[in-house]
Amino acid sequence: MIDRQQVMDALAEVHDPELHKSIVELNMVRDVQIDGRNVKVTVALKTAGCPLKDTIRRSVEERLARIPGVGRVEVELGAMTPEERAAMFAAKFSSPITAPDSKTQVIGVASGKGGVGKSTVTVNLAAALRKQGYAVGVLDCDIYGFSVPRMVGIEGVKPTVLDGKILPIPAHGMKVMSIGNFVPDNSPVIWRGPMLGKILRQFLTDVVWGELDFLLLDLPPGTGDMALDVAQLLPNSTLLIVTTPQVVAAGVASRAAQMSFKTNQRILGVVENMSAFVCPCCGEKTPIFGEGGGQKLAEELNVPLLAQLPLTMEARTLGDEGTPVAIAGEGVMAEAFAELAERVAAAVQQPAGQGGK
Ligand SMILES: Nc1ncnc2c1ncn2[C@@H]1O[C@H](COP(=O)(O)OP(=O)(O)O)[C@@H](O)[C@H]1O
Ligand SMILES: [Mg+2]
Repeated sequence: MIDRQQVMDALAEVHDPELHKSIVELNMVRDVQIDGRNVKVTVALKTAGCPLKDTIRRSVEERLARIPGVGRVEVELGAMTPEERAAMFAAKFSSPITAPDSKTQVIGVASGKGGVGKSTVTVNLAAALRKQGYAVGVLDCDIYGFSVPRMVGIEGVKPTVLDGKILPIPAHGMKVMSIGNFVPDNSPVIWRGPMLGKILRQFLTDVVWGELDFLLLDLPPGTGDMALDVAQLLPNSTLLIVTTPQVVAAGVASRAAQMSFKTNQRILGVVENMSAFVCPCCGEKTPIFGEGGGQKLAEELNVPLLAQLPLTMEARTLGDEGTPVAIAGEGVMAEAFAELAERVAAAVQQPAGQGGK
């Protein structure tokens, strides 16, 4: 004889893939019928046309089938009413990331110019933090030059929009949002400056992020409006500055960093990317983009140099394939990101002003 508690315990392990919470906690389990060894449950989905219907059904079936001694398993799917949905959002997701008491550490990844690896660092740092057990979101703030969807393998995936709320797209255990998932066929975004602030606000307040430990922002290059909007909407957010080892690149990155002095944002540290090419055959290091830029910038800003990430083939190919090297990589790069994640997690724990050397 199966008892109800066993069934509920099993269902508690099934998560809604978009909301990242158990279907029990989300009050989606509507009916449990037990007949000897046979179990029938009814689950109310967020909407009748929920695209994740089959995934959820399969997870429920698989989990119920693992109950010792269980016989036939039947899953019936229904849908929440708009009132039930509103109640669920209000009860579980009411506190936005912009609330002053939000527990989420928001970290903007910035650089003076494009192509230095901001998006690569954002996505892989996020993935490495996720791998270490944190709840992580990634918000692509590079509206004109979005590249996050491709890097995490969600190109062309349309987010679910429910009652004016946008559900972040699940990718590798993270929650991801990018304008790239709203525009058709990768078409370019042509809005003017003031629209950017509106989009950022909407992405921060209308996206159902839930409780995150970290939200990483992939900022556009330079010191534009977006950086100011971020500082205004998220005054407690911190920054990571990415540069290549080229000393000129560090000079440009420094100008981007100077802005944080005006906005009073704390810089957690510098990440030097493309530090040296590590030969996959012999391990020899070649400093293709020069040396010393990261160190120089860190000294100038009086913040720690948090990582020197090598230039590797793996980082580029896995990025193109949509599986971050921090998750799928086997070499030095995955290790370097794991280390960076540990340092970042430690740095945000320190009170402001203690991050420098
Ligand atoms: N450490 C690295 N090793 C190899 N390729 C890299 C590395 N960092 C970035 N890349 C590649 O360089 C290109 C630019 O990186 P990207 O992260 O898009 O820069 P940004 O966001 O600053 O414009 C991408 O094709 C990316 O895959
Ligand atoms: Mg980018």
